[in-house]
Order: sequence, then C-alpha cells, then structure tokens
Amino acid sequence: MAQFLWVILPYLCLAVMIVGSIYRYTYGQLSWTSKSSEILEKGFLRYGSVLFHYGIFAVIGGHVMGLLIPISFYHALGVPDEVYHAVAIYAGGAAGLVTWLGVILLLIRRIFNKRVRKHSSPSDYVTLVLLTIVITLGEFMTTVYSGINGAYEYRTTVGPWFRDIFVFHPNASLMVHVPLVLQIHAIAAWLLFASIPFTRLVHIYSLPWRYPTRAPIQFRSRTRYQRKAYQNKAGQ
Ligand code: HEM
Repeated sequence: MAQFLWVILPYLCLAVMIVGSIYRYTYGQLSWTSKSSEILEKGFLRYGSVLFHYGIFAVIGGHVMGLLIPISFYHALGVPDEVYHAVAIYAGGAAGLVTWLGVILLLIRRIFNKRVRKHSSPSDYVTLVLLTIVITLGEFMTTVYSGINGAYEYRTTVGPWFRDIFVFHPNASLMVHVPLVLQIHAIAAWLLFASIPFTRLVHIYSLPWRYPTRAPIQFRSRTRYQRKAYQNKAGQ
C-alpha cells in the first residue's frame, strides 16, 4: 500500500498530467481556456478570484521554501528551526487563509448562483472540490495541527520524499509516519495535478508573462470629455 500511495500514485498522476496535457494541446486547443463566467456573475467572482489567485501564488512560494529547499540549506544559513516554523505558520497560515476564503467564495458562487450553475460542467465542480479539499487540509495542518501539537517537521520527511520523486529515487518509507491529514493533503494534490488536462486548470500553462510589459489597450474612453475628443479626432 505504501509503495502504491507514495511511489506509484505520484508517477501515475504525473504521467496522466503530462500525456493528457500534450494530447489536449494537440487536439483541443480551442477549449484551452478557463472559460470566463464574469458575464454571468461579477460580485463573488471579483473577491473570490482575486483572493484565490493572490493567495495561491504565496502558497506556491511557501511550498518552494518547505518542500524544494532542503533543511540543510536553512541550517547552513544559520536559520533556527523555531524561526523557520514561526514564519511558515504565520506567513503560510495567512496565505492559506486568503486562498481558502477565495476558493470557498468561488465554490459557493458556482453551487448557489443559478446562472453560473447552468453554465458549469462536472469538471468545474471536480476542480473546485479538489482545490477546497487540498487547501482546507493544508491550512488545517499549518494552523490547527501546529497549534495543538507544535509544528510538524515536514522538511525531513515530506520534503525529501517530494524531491526524490523528480530524481526517480522515491522512498515511500519517508511518508509512512507523516500525520494522516498531511498524507491526504498530498494524495488529493496528486489527483488535482492529474485532473489538470481535463479541466479549466489547463490555463495555468498559459500564464500571461507579457502582460506587465505590453502596451496598454484602451477599450473605451474614461470620461465624456475624452469620448468627445476621440469622436472629434475620428471625424464622427
Ligand atoms: C504533492 C503536493 C503537495 C505536497 C507534498 C504538499 C505539502 C504541504 C506541506 C508539507 C504543508 C505544510 C503543513 C504544515 O504546516 O504542517 C502544506 C501546506 C499547505 N498546502 Fe500543500 N502540498 C502539496 C500541494 C498543494 C497544492 C496543490 C495546494 C493548493 C492547491 C496546496 C495548498 C496548501 C495550503 C493552503 C497549505 C497551508 C498554508 C501554507 O503552508 O502555505 N498544497 N502543504
């Protein structure tokens, strides 16, 4: 079972994610989008989407610090474990809370807004439910679990296990004694990764890198005066 959960499942999910994404890019480019639903409902979307997206970028930063950077690096810099965990709990917990509020708003909107619900596919629910499970469990670990039991040292278990997957040397025994909540968090995260090619999450490959540097596009003039000036210039 341990071999299945911590070695086979991650590779299975990564394979589905990579092969599925290449397939969808090759045969389904016209649906390669996170189909906007802004026209159907704006209020919840404005807050939910902004909170979720700002939050998730900070959470990704936290995962790089906790999973990709080895504990030896922090020790070499002289960062005490207590300091690392205090930052992880307060900054990570705040980022997780923002992300959690965002995803909850998006989930409520998709379930309870009739117009959004009618235009939703099953895959939209799969995405939001999986995101909610992963984020809720992660946030639970960082705040509630750490608050009760003290910070869990994932940099000596989950971190090396995660990195070893990418050098084809995974060690299932590193994950066997990890708290159950964190185990389910990781398993749900792999399932989320595997779902990417079949859902609106494909848009994560198409980050608009050129957006900050591109020339601004003006869709309409801001004031009546500007509109008039534009019409005069255009000879209307
Ligand atoms: C296999 C992939 C993943 C692993 C191994 C992993 C592991 C972890 C670990 C070790 C923590 C810290 C728990 C603690 O403080 O005791 C954490 C927290 C968290 N994770 Fe993940 N995670 C993964 C994927 C994800 C994904 C895909 C998301 C979001 C969609 C996510 C969202 C969170 C959140 C919101 C927190 C709490 C706040 C924070 O620490 O930033 N995780 N995760």
